[in-house]
Amino acid sequence: VRTVGSPLGGGPPKVIAHRGSSHIEPEHTLGAYLRAIDEGADGVECDVRLTADRHLVCVHDRRVNRTSTGRGVVSALELADLEGLDWGSWKLAHADDHEVPDRFNANILTLRQLIRTIVEADRKLDLVIETKHPTRWAGEVERRLVGLLAEFDLLRPTSGRPTVRLMSFSSLAVQRMAKLAPHLQRVQLIEVGTSPFFRDGLPANVAICGPRVGILRRNPEFVARQHHHGHQVHVWTVDTEEDIELCLRLGVDALITNRPALVRAAVDAA
Ligand code: G3P
Ligand code: CA
Repeated sequence: VRTVGSPLGGGPPKVIAHRGSSHIEPEHTLGAYLRAIDEGADGVECDVRLTADRHLVCVHDRRVNRTSTGRGVVSALELADLEGLDWGSWKLAHADDHEVPDRFNANILTLRQLIRTIVEADRKLDLVIETKHPTRWAGEVERRLVGLLAEFDLLRPTSGRPTVRLMSFSSLAVQRMAKLAPHLQRVQLIEVGTSPFFRDGLPANVAICGPRVGILRRNPEFVARQHHHGHQVHVWTVDTEEDIELCLRLGVDALITNRPALVRAAVDAA
């Protein structure tokens, strides 16, 4: 594989662990993030939702049912309810081609705990935070998120400290975050090739687009087009040899993956 390399960033593409090293570990658990750091990820991605008592927690789905021992909607439950659940054992049923660590009793991970882990890591990491449910409580997720980042003094890029990127599929959420945290990088996620952002390009105040890797399979020219407009391309979810090779050939700026060890090795070998 030859790494074309983005004309924007210069260096090799970043390896970002999607929900942690989540192919092996239960997603969004502390164990998943610690493994990702051990495996050499340049950064980590997480999804955030608000609980009923307004805590930001790292959970992908609207409901807790798939990834915990509980039932119900995250935003209707309190943090104490989520703390009473096991967020690890569900993964044991998903062991296919690999051994799943015995992670019973994994705890809910709050965004505060994840930020602290990234801030205290022994090397500089990227922290990529995706907000979910943008319309509920009219911007409360984004306000709480920016407030929390302010507590850790992360609202401006500072040398030696984590680089924070904020992202969403919702342009409403991205624009809210642009107002609240103007100095942080923003990523507009793109799900399908018919998205208006695919057709018309990104808003002027957004410098990074985040396409699903399938968009690149069907439209390989997409990356060069974005670079031509001065935009970076951060692709998800890149887990197979074929997709890794495609991304490296096209010169994307970041590969967001459930398998950071695999992608790290491919990027280093390219
Ligand atoms: O990194 C972007 C990606 O996480 C978006 O999709 O559904 O996994 O949050 P999803
Ligand atoms: Ca996500």
